[in-house]
Amino acid sequence: MARTSHQRYVEIMRDVEDLINDHIAHQNRGTASRSKLKLLVPTVGTFFTPLLLAEAFTYQDQRRRISSRRFVPPSFNDIRLTLNSAQIMSLVRAGPLHLVTFDGDVTLYDDGDSLTAENPVISRILGLLERGIKVAIVTAAGYTESEKYHGRLYGLLDAMRAAVIERRLEKPNLVVMGGESNYLFVFNSEAEYCLEYVPRQMWLLDAMRLWSEEDIAALLDVAEAALKECVNNLGLSADVLRKERAVGIVPSIGSTVRFTREQLEETVLVTQQVVDMSAGKTIPFCAFNGGNDIFVDIGDKSWGVLACQRYFGGIQGSQTLHIGDQFLSAGANDFKARLACTTAWIASPAETVDLLDELALHDKERVDR
Ligand code: IMP
Ligand code: MG
Repeated sequence: MARTSHQRYVEIMRDVEDLINDHIAHQNRGTASRSKLKLLVPTVGTFFTPLLLAEAFTYQDQRRRISSRRFVPPSFNDIRLTLNSAQIMSLVRAGPLHLVTFDGDVTLYDDGDSLTAENPVISRILGLLERGIKVAIVTAAGYTESEKYHGRLYGLLDAMRAAVIERRLEKPNLVVMGGESNYLFVFNSEAEYCLEYVPRQMWLLDAMRLWSEEDIAALLDVAEAALKECVNNLGLSADVLRKERAVGIVPSIGSTVRFTREQLEETVLVTQQVVDMSAGKTIPFCAFNGGNDIFVDIGDKSWGVLACQRYFGGIQGSQTLHIGDQFLSAGANDFKARLACTTAWIASPAETVDLLDELALHDKERVDR
């Protein structure tokens, strides 16, 4: 029974793989709007690479024994992990992979935590850097000082500094893009807090240079008013936090209650719509649910990833992988990265570690071959 199920699932995966290949052929001819896949899934985006779905399913089936289950059919998580494997296999096969970008909260460390010295992701990121792969942490967390980012990421930054001093790592390429697409810092083992601020003029994309300070302030004013109205209407115990490039609400100081999912989602959707209808036409923005806070940031992770790709000399979307946890289309900030590169959707820091191990395994197989 398991063998028959496996064969049937693999056939389905191969069919979807073919649909994607056909869509890519249409993309290359400029007729993506007429592909069969587009008709079946109108919201489907641009594919940067094919997806080796049949092979990836076999890999995940060995680990998760999907075909051996009698009552529980392939689940959302089975499919999500199969897609991640397929993306990684394709990236390695078409290779080389040049840039991996990571979200922060939930992807590298638990929500609201920091990347501490014992985090198992550190050795995996050092592995990427040793193999010459560039790394960017593209996070919503928006600070202007390197000290704050060091406070969140010190486990990794200190390990990198030690590796450089001990000559285990030569010229590692790592940047931190904060506030989605607003603050760029580059790793420098000799800099205070291991990070050097890169002035905006050195990395802004041409389109971003058109975002005027007045328009930015006007957008944040509208967003702030919308957030305050939600706080009032929903009776939230929340403080408004206004920054240079963002505005958000966080639980009131001293309050231990968590916002409910309904409160968070309603606030994101209302704010998104209010800003969309007024200020959002001139400047891109990202309203998202951060788990127990809500932020509206100027720009979004597609701009953040694109700016990193350019900063590193023009890396393509098909050579870049963004790993994040927020890919539901409403109120999720990693979703936008899909416009700039290939993506993997993880659900916990442990899954990120598994994914990086899988990447290293396929990489090694390619080199051995
Ligand atoms: P990410 O998962 O790395 O993108 O980080 C998201 C979290 O960063 C949010 O949930 C907030 O708690 C936190 N954060 C701190 N400052 C900002 C900001 O300026 N904009 C958005 N999120 C922020
Ligand atoms: Mg996150």
